[in-house]
Amino acid sequence: MSPNKLNSLAILLGLVAALESTNLFTPNRLFIKPLVSFVPSTLCSLPFFITSLIRRSHRHGHHHHHPDEDKPGNKTNICDNFPPDFPPPDTNTTSFFCVDRNGCCNFTTVQAAVDAVGVMSSKRNIVWINNGVYFEKVMIPKTKPNITFQGQGYTSTAIVWNDTANSAHGTFYSGSVQIFATNFIAKNLSFMNAAPMPVPGAVGAQAVAIRIAGDQAAFWGCGFFGAQDTLHDDRGRHYFRDCYVQGSIDFIFGNAKSMYQNCRLVSIASPVAEGTKGINGAVTAQGRASKDENSGFAFVNCSIGGTGRIWLGRAWRPFSTVVFSFTAMSDIIAPEGWNDFNDPARDQSIFYGEYNCSGDGANAAARAIYAQRLNDTQASPFLNVSFIDADQWLQPFTTS
Ligand SMILES: *[C@@H]1O[C@H](CO)[C@@H](O)[C@H](O)[C@H]1NC(C)=O
Ligand SMILES: *[C@@H]1O[C@H](CO)[C@@H](O)[C@H](O)[C@H]1NC(C)=O
Ligand SMILES: *[C@@H]1O[C@H](CO)[C@@H](O)[C@H](O)[C@H]1NC(C)=O
Ligand SMILES: *[C@@H]1O[C@H](CO)[C@@H](O)[C@H](O)[C@H]1NC(C)=O
Ligand SMILES: *[C@@H]1O[C@H](CO)[C@@H](O)[C@H](O)[C@H]1NC(C)=O
Ligand SMILES: *[C@@H]1O[C@H](CO)[C@@H](O)[C@H](O)[C@H]1NC(C)=O
Ligand SMILES: *[C@@H]1O[C@H](CO)[C@@H](O)[C@H](O)[C@H]1NC(C)=O
Ligand SMILES: *[C@@H]1O[C@H](CO)[C@@H](O)[C@H](O)[C@H]1NC(C)=O
Ligand SMILES: *[C@@H]1O[C@H](CO)[C@@H](O)[C@H](O)[C@H]1NC(C)=O
Ligand SMILES: *[C@@H]1O[C@H](CO)[C@@H](O)[C@H](O)[C@H]1NC(C)=O
Repeated sequence: MSPNKLNSLAILLGLVAALESTNLFTPNRLFIKPLVSFVPSTLCSLPFFITSLIRRSHRHGHHHHHPDEDKPGNKTNICDNFPPDFPPPDTNTTSFFCVDRNGCCNFTTVQAAVDAVGVMSSKRNIVWINNGVYFEKVMIPKTKPNITFQGQGYTSTAIVWNDTANSAHGTFYSGSVQIFATNFIAKNLSFMNAAPMPVPGAVGAQAVAIRIAGDQAAFWGCGFFGAQDTLHDDRGRHYFRDCYVQGSIDFIFGNAKSMYQNCRLVSIASPVAEGTKGINGAVTAQGRASKDENSGFAFVNCSIGGTGRIWLGRAWRPFSTVVFSFTAMSDIIAPEGWNDFNDPARDQSIFYGEYNCSGDGANAAARAIYAQRLNDTQASPFLNVSFIDADQWLQPFTTS
């Protein structure tokens, strides 16, 4: 074999190995071949529905037609899949910006629609995003509050980029989507960073899917896909409901004050052999630095599953604050549950609580000494949306 052929064989074998090592979400082998042709191999750590979505959207991109066009006697236009009477007319409280990657409406990229939103608008500006994968890096500046991203479902609409801490000159700038504005809302779409899953000991491989640095943001039915540092819950008050968050190390991190309700938290850390002791991931790395800051993560009615052996949280900073309530935890949670960042001085100041959780991973018998089983009184501030002052800003799903 020529060196070139050997090289591509090695890449293919590496890809198959990567596919096998991700078990829970290993895409169907039948799709390996089409994936190789245009999807970065790194996407293979993503769930099957996302890889097949990307495959579909590439096909659309190349041929610009609807699959039904292939059938004789049934010519459907790719632009036919809009709701009737779309977009609705602008009102004095709402404007619409339509995004379709195939050019069926005004904008083909999400960023172009964001750029078209008026500065300091007091209207709700709905950026309606059609099915498909949008390969772009998106930024909403401070001057553009009140934007809604409306997708068509988190398994059918996604914004994807692949910066890393190395390529973006810092983890904080690696986000595929970066939100600096207030009053942001996202519904029914995914945010994804498709950079390779870091190998153990890798430096600068952190790869953020979204950075949320504006106050009063809400996410409904959204997906967040990445490996190390997927969701940068940076600052402000945020609400996540019915969301899916995938990652490996510190996959929800930052210094925001956030509530996660009914969310699925899925670890893609490498599987750990029975009888070995290694820990290879953490759900959270909450970054509260002092008593005076008012931040923390509250999880209610969530589930934690996937692969690896991981901590619920590790104390990125001394006053790290995280509470899990009514959450089902699989046996991937390490028996000690939490980690103080190897700094016992932090044991006095961190606030790590669990309340009425269930599953093999919730067993309290071997928990770290500083981990608290909360009683009803202690848990109550972390159980409902008053935690994020929702009465001041959070709109119900249907009206927002
Ligand atoms: C043509 O395609 C449309 C849209 O997918 C479908 O609803 C319809 O049943 C098809 N008609 C025929 C004759 O195949
Ligand atoms: C907005 O429109 C509604 C109905 O179209 C009207 O009743 C209301 O006065 C308008 N508000 C402003 C501030 O123009
Ligand atoms: C495109 O923009 C024009 C002018 O702003 C607007 O009238 C129209 O409704 C928009 N169309 C779509 C599909 O968003
Ligand atoms: C728009 O943003 C401002 C400032 O963040 C906020 O006061 C206002 O309520 C928002 N309006 C809408 C319609 O979301
Ligand atoms: C992102 O993916 C593209 C296409 O596969 C690749 O050329 C580029 O190097 C990647 N960027 C990084 C930072 O890995
Ligand atoms: C959109 O999200 C809402 C809230 O999580 C959910 O109830 C609804 O089923 C989702 N719709 C689609 C099309 O995914
Ligand atoms: C808990 O979450 C599940 C799914 O995530 C949902 O079906 C159920 O209604 C939620 N329970 C409560 C009490 O909100
Ligand atoms: C804890 O959860 C169990 C089952 O989910 C429930 O029966 C019990 O009432 C809960 N306890 C409290 C204090 O809510
Ligand atoms: C809950 O725990 C706190 C702190 O340990 C304690 O002061 C309080 O009396 C407890 N409340 C109940 C109802 O057990
Ligand atoms: C949330 O819980 C607190 C403490 O139990 C309670 O005072 C408050 O009324 C609740 N808020 C909502 C919106 O249910």
